[in-house]
Amino acid sequence: MRHLISPLDFSVAELDALMNLAEDIEQNKKKYAHACDGKKLATLFYEPSTRTRLSFESAMLSLGGDVLGFSSAASSSASKGESVADTLRMISCYADICAIRHPKEGAALVGAQAASIPVINAGDGGHQHPTQTLTDLMTIRSLKGRLSDMTVGLCGDLKFGRTVHSLINALVRYPGIRFVLISPAELRVPDYIREGVLEKNSIPYQEVTNLDEAMPLLDILYMTRVQRERFFSEDEYLRMKDCYILDAAKMALARQDMLVLHPLPRVNEIAVEVDSDPRAAYFRQVQYGVYVRMALILTLLEVDAAALS
Ligand code: CP
Repeated sequence: MRHLISPLDFSVAELDALMNLAEDIEQNKKKYAHACDGKKLATLFYEPSTRTRLSFESAMLSLGGDVLGFSSAASSSASKGESVADTLRMISCYADICAIRHPKEGAALVGAQAASIPVINAGDGGHQHPTQTLTDLMTIRSLKGRLSDMTVGLCGDLKFGRTVHSLINALVRYPGIRFVLISPAELRVPDYIREGVLEKNSIPYQEVTNLDEAMPLLDILYMTRVQRERFFSEDEYLRMKDCYILDAAKMALARQDMLVLHPLPRVNEIAVEVDSDPRAAYFRQVQYGVYVRMALILTLLEVDAAALS
């Protein structure tokens, strides 16, 4: 039995196989419509979510399976003090696979150690968000045709942004990747990523504060939200929240084939006028997220896709 807790749980070859499967699902949806008949997915969301929870549910329903779960800690027995480990032990009697989002770093791993079904980390605090990373990789591969030889700009909250941490961890395994890390000094990438991932793997990177200067360098611009829920002080959040706003004037500085990604939700960091720019890929990214989660469910449930017709 396998879990997905970190993007590094899958090798590059396994990621390629997963994305090939997601591509096949995109092109042959009917073939997969009953692949999970009789199977149940539990979605255990202790933190708010729109995309991740609903895309998991959409993915399982599109595979013919069923879904159950809760969308807030307050509506579960966590509010009575039940531990994540006990919850996962119990959910293993109700479902065949589960996706868990929790505000505490490491909660998904604790849950996986107690569960007897595959557990998917749907976001643990400021730590990791591996299925967003699968979505991001799938989007880049599909729209750029490769995952290597690119300059990737990561902009915004690089300190608390778990999608950024997961994406860096995943992309450093491909050749020719360079990063431009665009953030205010207060929201820099943490040391454990800078030293433990970038420098350890000799990955070229630069840290800058000015988005305009970075724009012409980039093949991919990955925008992120400054996350109110991760700040200890409201004043500090208010000071940081609009530190970068991508608008049409900034897009004019970028290459014609640059892509803009964003894990969403956005607040102010991408002006609505950018949505109609053909380089804005963030809503297409959402659709890729469903296909790649379908592929992940099939993989973890060990459904033989080759036997489907
Ligand atoms: N990208 C993402 O995780 O969105 P949600 O918080 O809406 O799930």
